[in-house]
Amino acid sequence: MSAIAPHRPIHYGPRRHIAPIRERLSGLDFNHFEAVPQSPCLGAEIRGLDLSKPLGKEVTEDIERAFVEYKVIFFRDQEISKADHAAFARNFGELEIHPFIEQGENPEIVRFVKDENVVGVENNWHSDVSWREIPSLGSILRAYEVPSVGGDTLWTDMEAVYEGLADDLKSEIEGKIAIHDFVHTFGLALSEEQREEKRKEFPPAYHPIVRTHPRTGRKCLYVNPIFTRCIDGMDDEASDSLLKRLYQEIEVPEYQVRFQWEPNSIAFWDNRSTQHYAASDYWPQPRVMERLTIIGDRPA
Ligand code: SIN
Repeated sequence: MSAIAPHRPIHYGPRRHIAPIRERLSGLDFNHFEAVPQSPCLGAEIRGLDLSKPLGKEVTEDIERAFVEYKVIFFRDQEISKADHAAFARNFGELEIHPFIEQGENPEIVRFVKDENVVGVENNWHSDVSWREIPSLGSILRAYEVPSVGGDTLWTDMEAVYEGLADDLKSEIEGKIAIHDFVHTFGLALSEEQREEKRKEFPPAYHPIVRTHPRTGRKCLYVNPIFTRCIDGMDDEASDSLLKRLYQEIEVPEYQVRFQWEPNSIAFWDNRSTQHYAASDYWPQPRVMERLTIIGDRPA
């Protein structure tokens, strides 16, 4: 049931389109591990694998299927090396080097070290590097040190978000293109000159608001509040207002899964069909994570 409030639509009652998603996911079967769903829409814990060992083609194919279907998969107690982490990620594609986050010895690894002085700022919904012309397929995040409580990461299912939009909103965004940009995030730490240099390398990226997942053929909403700047061809006010309506849907808890980290936990998520949010509720405690990101394809 839904009702119209003076300033925005309010939705009461079940999000019925979740039922077939939940049924489809609960019917999945894998030959090489157990997958335990963590929420009705997305997320499963994978049990029975040791990621420090080579996996072989069949196991890798099974993992890839679980990753695409559940959109984010979790592993516990994986005391793997950096090389194991990279070898696991390479099973699914080429790794990217992040152009804005300082690299250590292993340029593909993004190390997030948070503490009293370096605070968690990833607490806004986003899909990794959507400002690239060819954004990410997926990211694999491994926990080293986690707070005693808090520091969870949340993911939302952008297929379910799209499916749940009202028909008139679906028609309104059909065929529209959004512009994504690094400038108002990573660009803020750069001088004007540096920003202009990086702009040449990474011009604004034009992506469809609704993308079709290349593996499943299902539609996903592909705009996010930190990297999407505006909708191409709309004036600022109309663009802001439409994006705001879409962002309200990203925040609906029914579409989300929340993961509590332990040291040696791993999350592997699909950036084409999810967005994530790292809760920044643990300051001043430390939180140390390492992420590898796999290059995807041009959203279509
Ligand atoms: C990220 O935004 O990729 C980092 C997520 C996290 O630290 O939980």
